[in-house]
This record gives sequence, structure tokens and C-alpha cells, in this order.
Amino acid sequence: MSKVKVWDGFIRSFHWLLVVAIATLYFSAEEGMLELHFATGYFTLALIITRLIWGVIGSKTAKLSSLIHSPIAAIKSFKNNEHKAGHGAAGSYMVIAFFILILAQLGSGLMTSDDILTDGPLVKYVSTDTVEFAGWLHHLNFDILLYAIVLHVIAIVIYRIKGKNLVKPMLTGSSEQVSVTEPVTKSPLLAFVIFALCLVVLFTTWGAEPLSYLFS
Ligand code: HEM
Ligand code: HEM
Repeated sequence: MSKVKVWDGFIRSFHWLLVVAIATLYFSAEEGMLELHFATGYFTLALIITRLIWGVIGSKTAKLSSLIHSPIAAIKSFKNNEHKAGHGAAGSYMVIAFFILILAQLGSGLMTSDDILTDGPLVKYVSTDTVEFAGWLHHLNFDILLYAIVLHVIAIVIYRIKGKNLVKPMLTGSSEQVSVTEPVTKSPLLAFVIFALCLVVLFTTWGAEPLSYLFS
């Protein structure tokens, strides 16, 4: 089998920037560095919005529609160790779970208050009960997200033991382990432009304040 490009540059950047962002969000929350937490939160929001748009207009392997599989297909794919380009059926469930968990974490964060000085930017628009619920969800959902990350890494290790190296393609973009002939990736340029636009919009609306604290 020859070397095939399976992940475009945006998907790979999205993945590894997401890993760094989640580590920074955890660290900043634990250390009470809420300006850094907020700024990283907006960065993560820009990442996920772009990823979802790229899931509609982007590469074949980035398509959200390619994540839909029956549970039976998922069980079979895990057993068969199939070699197809893009997420397998079982992996697709994990990816959907990540998108939902990350969106819930971001959405609840925007409505969370530390009850002292710092409010998420949507706190002023919602009731006290909603803020309380969002704070509760923000704590609980993060624990679930952590379990999902552990499970994700364990699954990657299991695939490696079974002879399938998934990490190398997520780093280099290419794989020798799949049998496809037609191109499955597009130029990521448009995705990076959308990402830059999302960053500009988010940081000029909500991000100016945390950034001014961070760099003063
Ligand atoms: C904060 C921790 C992590 C999160 C939130 C996360 C999340 C994700 C998401 C959302 C995807 C789907 C990518 C997409 O289609 O856009 C993915 C795929 C992937 N992740 Fe992670 N990840 C994390 C850590 C890791 C680590 C530490 C590794 C390496 C051991 C890893 C290896 C992979 C690989 C190889 C894939 C592609 C799987 C496949 O071929 O279907 N991830 N991850
Ligand atoms: C994926 C994105 C996010 C992750 C992973 C995350 C993670 C966390 C974690 C782990 C905590 C500490 C919880 C605890 O003490 O048990 C926290 C607290 C907090 N987060 Fe986030 N967060 C994210 C996004 C956001 C966003 C976008 C905002 C607002 C703009 C935000 C606002 C807050 C606030 C105000 C607190 C303090 C709550 C308190 O003091 O009880 N977070 N976050």
C-alpha cells in the first residue's frame, strides 16, 4: 500500500491545538488564572466553530456526515481493525462525544461565575438559577471530559498493540495503512482563514478584556 494523505493540515492543527488548549484551561482554572482561562476558552471556541464548519465544507475525512454509523458497525469495526481513511465507526462515536462535551464545557463556561470578581460574558443575560446550573455543569462536565480523554488514549494504545498506528497520521497527515485511491483531503487554507476570522470576532468582542489583563 502506498502513502496516502488522510488528514489535512487544519484537522491536525485542530487536534494538537485542542490538546494544548484543554491542558491550559485545566491548569489556568486550577491556578485561579481566570484571564488566561477566558482567553484560552475563546481560542478553543474559535477552534471548534471552525472544525464544525470544516465538517460541512472541508475534506472528505473531516466531514461530519462521515461520522454517522450504526452501533453494530461500530462494534464490528473495533473487532475487525478495518483500514479505511478517516475515523472508523467506533472512533466516530468518540469524536461526536468529544464535540458534544467540548461544546457543553464552552457553553456552560460562558455562563459561569466564580462568585467573586469574574463572570463569563453571558452571565449578565441569564437568571441566577441558570448561572448556578451552568457552574454545576462546568465542573461535572469537565470530569466526564477527562474520562473521555483517558478512554480515547487507551483506545489509541489498543489500536497500536493491534498493529494500527493512528498517531503518526495525526502528526504527519499521511498513512501507509489505508487502501484509498481518490484524494480524501482538501487544501486547509480556507479553514485557517475561517479560524482567523473567528479569532478576530471573538477577541474583539469578548477577548479584549482578558487579553489586556494578560499583557499589562
Ligand atoms: C485533551 C486531550 C485530547 C482531546 C480532547 C482529543 C480529541 C480528539 C478529537 C476531537 C479527535 C477527532 C479529530 C477530528 O476529526 O477533528 C481526535 C482524534 C485523534 N486523537 Fe485525540 N484528543 C486528545 C488527546 C490525544 C492524545 C494524547 C493522542 C495521542 C496519543 C491523541 C491521538 C488521536 C488520534 C491518533 C486521533 C485520530 C483517530 C482516528 O484515526 O480515528 N489524542 N482526538
Ligand atoms: C473547553 C473549554 C473549557 C474547559 C476545559 C474548562 C475547564 C474548567 C475547569 C477544570 C474549571 C475548574 C473547575 C473546578 O474547580 O472544579 C473551570 C472553572 C471556570 N471556568 Fe472554565 N473551562 C472551559 C471554558 C470556559 C469558558 C469559555 C469560560 C468563560 C468565558 C469559563 C469560565 C470559567 C469560570 C468563571 C470558572 C470558575 C468557576 C468557579 O470558580 O467555580 N470556562 N473551567
